[in-house]
Amino acid sequence: MCGIVAYIGKRQASPILLDGLRRLEYRGYDSAGIALWTDGGIDVYRKAGRIENLRKAVSEANPPGDLGISHTRWATHGAPTDENAHPHKDQSGNLALVHNGVIENYISIKDQLLAEGHTFQSETDTEVLAHLVGKCYDEGEETEPQAKLVAAVQAALPRVKGTFGIAVIHSDAPGVIVGSRLGSPLVVGLGKDEHFLASDVGAIVAHTRDVIYLNDYDLVTITRHGYDVSSLDTNRTASVKVSRVDFTEDDAEKGKFEHYMLKEIYEQPQSIRNALRGRLSRDEATAVLGGLNMSPMELRQIDRIIFSGCGTAYHAAMVGEYLMESLARIPTEIEFASEFRYRNVPTTKSTLQFVVSQSGETIDTLAALREAKRKGLRCLGIVNNVASTIARESDGGVYIHAGPEIGVAATKTFTSQVTIMTLLSLLFGRIHHLSSTDGLEMIDELEAIPEKIESILKQAPRIKEIAQKYANAEGMLFMGRQLNYPVAMEGALKMKEISYIYASGHPSAELKHGIIALVKPDLPSVFIAPDDAVFDKNVSNIEEVKARKGPVIAVTTEGCTDLERIADDVLYVPPCKSILSPLLTVVPLQLLSYYVALARGCDVDKPRNLAKSVTVE
Ligand code: AGP
Repeated sequence: MCGIVAYIGKRQASPILLDGLRRLEYRGYDSAGIALWTDGGIDVYRKAGRIENLRKAVSEANPPGDLGISHTRWATHGAPTDENAHPHKDQSGNLALVHNGVIENYISIKDQLLAEGHTFQSETDTEVLAHLVGKCYDEGEETEPQAKLVAAVQAALPRVKGTFGIAVIHSDAPGVIVGSRLGSPLVVGLGKDEHFLASDVGAIVAHTRDVIYLNDYDLVTITRHGYDVSSLDTNRTASVKVSRVDFTEDDAEKGKFEHYMLKEIYEQPQSIRNALRGRLSRDEATAVLGGLNMSPMELRQIDRIIFSGCGTAYHAAMVGEYLMESLARIPTEIEFASEFRYRNVPTTKSTLQFVVSQSGETIDTLAALREAKRKGLRCLGIVNNVASTIARESDGGVYIHAGPEIGVAATKTFTSQVTIMTLLSLLFGRIHHLSSTDGLEMIDELEAIPEKIESILKQAPRIKEIAQKYANAEGMLFMGRQLNYPVAMEGALKMKEISYIYASGHPSAELKHGIIALVKPDLPSVFIAPDDAVFDKNVSNIEEVKARKGPVIAVTTEGCTDLERIADDVLYVPPCKSILSPLLTVVPLQLLSYYVALARGCDVDKPRNLAKSVTVE
């Protein structure tokens, strides 16, 4: 979950690298560092804490170099200290390396290097990798430094078990940066007389939108005037495809908003329109999803669906399960990706697997995809990050087109993922037994959602007041039924990850099976209770909580004022078809967690211990 940026070209490297790291800070922010090539060797600057600490140190020095590598860290091995920050040097001090991933056999490699007299300054697996590449460089037979560095990386990486996305420079080779990837993303940026490497296009989109998304085992060398992609695996040829990034630098900025999370909450009307665009056919009263790469005949053969994902993506999959069973009547199950990869799920040739991932790089979800494919299952991706590893390894799928999501807490990508789940359920439903009238009704309801979210967003000031009232709660319960049970789970996750209040989500009826023991005057319960078939059941649960003096915040449908008499605070969402209610009921919860976190002085966009994309196990 770290971030890498590398630059070689006609401009001073340090400002470009620092700005790139700032745009990648959501990937990890324990410590950061830069290594720059200079006539006298390689200068390294490293600082624990936020990138701002590094920026101050580097700006004071204002180093002139036009070739450098940089890194922002989410600690896996070793505490977040200056010494453990990347870049790391080799034994000679002439090579520097940055790394995103985990070297699983670093201990045995380190023992071997220690026996050969190497000494280490840090506790990290990355420093061991730097020493290994440096050893291969010093022992290499090539004479020309660029070829020598490439050969050293080619010799070292096959000895490594684990995952890596790396960038390497050497003081003898001022004209080249070498990179490679296995399991961690790495992209090449193509500029005019300048080239970039980065973990994510967001770091370099200000300089170029022409990029190459590297595949596992690709090895890349970039120079001021060109690049070359080869393969670590001599049995495969690297496939090189230049892509055009589909968003601009402005899209990846906060604009008028105080935080990315708030911006992304407010982007939801537009991001849902983007998810729907070109995918609703009134003529056929169904959804059009060409990226599935499956004909209606093939889709009709599917008699079981499995959704896998992590975190918020898993909650979207939970909604998908209800939608698919309700609209398409196809048996559907969901599984945490981290569990699916180790379960031995019985499947048949008519089972269809979906993996859900905003980043398209979550290592557990990628592993679930690969496990499904090992079983011979067709596996489709529901992904935001175009050309991400999951997107490229899936047999097809649906991009959610939410645009870059920088805030660590997923918001717009949840509602976009649920929108795609709805389109999928409509498509399968119309293949089986939904009438064209049903289909047209669903299309009308879906197209009305963005405007309904806009009306919910207008309640932000009121939600902020309620948030301030409960900001000191020691815990929160979130309850919902049917499709709003996943919304309760999602609301609890938002509250946990950005306000650090312990929160849990449950089916409302579970209250009596133990949870009600927690209810007390300073423990608020949030009930998602729209005016639907189970509304009265939710009312009973709310009364059970109130009878025990538990405060209640309720989210319900406009016009349904019954809850005013029992709940302490009531938030309203516009009426909609009940199976679409998660698209609306989640929005007040997103804002509630945002304003509670703000009231508690938490770092909303970069919450402690978290990173945006979990690319290490
Ligand atoms: C959600 O707010 C969290 N940031 C986290 O649970 C996230 O949803 C999870 O890590 C999955 O990420 P992905 O969608 O990029 O695979």
